[in-house]
This record gives sequence, structure tokens and C-alpha cells, in this order.
Amino acid sequence: MFTVQKATFDESTTARLIELSRIWADENITFGLRANTNEDLKEPCFTAVSEGEIIGYAFGHYYEREHPNSVIKKGSRCFELDELYVLPRFRSEGVGAALFRAIEKEARQNADFMTLTTATKDWRRILSFYSDGMEMVFHDAYLVKALEE
Ligand SMILES: CC(C)(COP(=O)(O)OP(=O)(O)OC[C@H]1O[C@@H](n2cnc3c(N)ncnc32)[C@H](O)[C@@H]1OP(=O)(O)O)[C@@H](O)C(=O)NCCC(=O)NCCS
Repeated sequence: MFTVQKATFDESTTARLIELSRIWADENITFGLRANTNEDLKEPCFTAVSEGEIIGYAFGHYYEREHPNSVIKKGSRCFELDELYVLPRFRSEGVGAALFRAIEKEARQNADFMTLTTATKDWRRILSFYSDGMEMVFHDAYLVKALEE
């Protein structure tokens, strides 16, 4: 059982969010990820809480689109989902979806588009989560091939 709530960055919440980001970085499942500091945390932020402990979080920020693309016009109001994380032992139980839905509902009040980039190594599963589960539309991808022998 868990509940999802909007977070305020008090001392204990901030410390726990930073701790979770450290656990995430140590999992080594996301390219280029490092643990957060206070300055990295953004609002709005939602937390999933189980037995009084934060077990997952989602946060992001609003921005105005400067560079248009084929879907989003210049000047559109957007919400970037910066981070979505659930502790490994609580995964695949709907916590991530609940966090996504909560922050989506909030973003809908202020923005016309929700955007995100992902560097999750298990890209097939994360694309399935966002596109099949959360109704996000795939836009583009950055691919790399090392050419050194
Ligand atoms: C992505 C994540 C937030 C989903 O949370 P969750 O509570 O497991 O989500 P739900 O239970 O609502 O949905 C489960 C789906 O999430 C995806 N998922 C679960 N674990 C995953 C992982 N390690 N990597 C990528 N996708 C994962 C799968 O699509 C899964 O469906 P499946 O169980 O049928 O394969 C969570 O897996 C996580 O924290 N992953 C590591 C951090 C991460 O990659 N965050 C996304 C950054 S863009």
C-alpha cells in the first residue's frame, strides 16, 4: 500500500529525495546519472509514501518552448518531467504510474505539453512504460556506436 502526495521541500523530505537519487545513481541503470544536490530538486514534486517512508518520487519544471519542433510550436507552455524514480523493491506495482498520473494532472493546469528525455539503459522497458502505459508519443532518439577497436 502506498499514497501519492504533493511534496514540500522540508529538511527531511529533501534529505530523503537526495538519498533516493543516490540509490538510483548506485544502481547504474541510467547513463550519466549522478546523485542530486538541493539545487537539483524542482517543483512540482510528488512523492509515493509507504509506511511513513518515501519510496519514490517525480519532479519537473515548467518552461516556454524556445525552439519549435514538428509537434510543439515556439512559445508553447510545457512541463518537463525531470525525474521519476521508484525504489527497486516497490517496482511493477503501479507506483511509477501513480506518480506519473499525479504530476500529469498538476501539469495539465499550467502547460499544454509534457516532455521528457530518458537515458534509462533498459530503453525497451522504459519506452513501453511511457508510450504503452502513459500515452506519451515517441518523438526522437539519440543513438551512439563506439567505433574504436
Ligand atoms: C520507471 C519506473 C519509475 C516505473 O516505476 P514502477 O513503479 O515500476 O512502474 P509501474 O509499476 O507503474 O509500471 C511498471 C513498468 O515500468 C517499467 N519498468 C519497471 N522497472 C523498470 C526498469 N528498471 N527500467 C525501465 N523500465 C522499468 C516497465 O515498463 C514496467 O512494466 P512491466 O513490469 O510490465 O515490465 C521505475 O521502474 C524506476 O524507478 N526505474 C528506474 C529509474 C528510471 O529509469 N526512471 C525513468 C527515468 S526517465
